[in-house]
Amino acid sequence: MRISFIGTGAITEAMVTGIVGSGLDVAGILVSPRNREIAARLAGRFPLVRIVKDNQQAVDAADVLFLAVRPQIAEDVIPKLKFRKGQKVVSVIAATDRPTLLGWIGEEVELTQAIPLPFVAEREGVTAIYPPNRAVAAIFAALGT
Ligand SMILES: NC(=O)c1ccc[n+]([C@@H]2O[C@H](COP(=O)([O-])OP(=O)(O)OC[C@H]3O[C@@H](n4cnc5c(N)ncnc54)[C@H](OP(=O)(O)O)[C@@H]3O)[C@@H](O)[C@H]2O)c1
Repeated sequence: MRISFIGTGAITEAMVTGIVGSGLDVAGILVSPRNREIAARLAGRFPLVRIVKDNQQAVDAADVLFLAVRPQIAEDVIPKLKFRKGQKVVSVIAATDRPTLLGWIGEEVELTQAIPLPFVAEREGVTAIYPPNRAVAAIFAALGT
């Protein structure tokens, strides 16, 4: 499975750190170039992590795509991206409801919303997801419960 992240900030750094070494069957982790320092740090620490050239490349390569930008910029970023029908997309964006996210995505994706906390880095996070999704639950189960 290839996992991509749009938005390489604090919570992406925590999720990536937790996923590496979690035992999940991950062939690659692709992170978007911003934030530059965090992306470079992750790619430097973990051979599985690669920095893509732009957000669309992260979408195209993803079996599971995480949206992890701040709510204030999400409306600017997400509608510009082209998603695949049926693609697994996980939004961790706060305070943004499902119809709004689906409107921005503009495609029939398999959307899950999740609320990870920084403890996922130590694989001790308790993460709520909605709606239930087996593949997404398996990822967060590997990062805690
Ligand atoms: N932190 C948490 O514990 C936590 C927990 C659950 C959910 N969340 C949610 O997760 C999301 C991210 O939170 P965060 O704490 O990780 O915030 P953050 O550290 O500010 O990370 C957001 C990242 O998005 C990047 N970004 C800005 N413009 C972008 C663009 N056009 N394309 C791609 N990336 C872009 C920023 O890069 P630059 O630095 O270069 O601007 C920044 O690194 C938010 O919606 C937040 O509510 C956070």
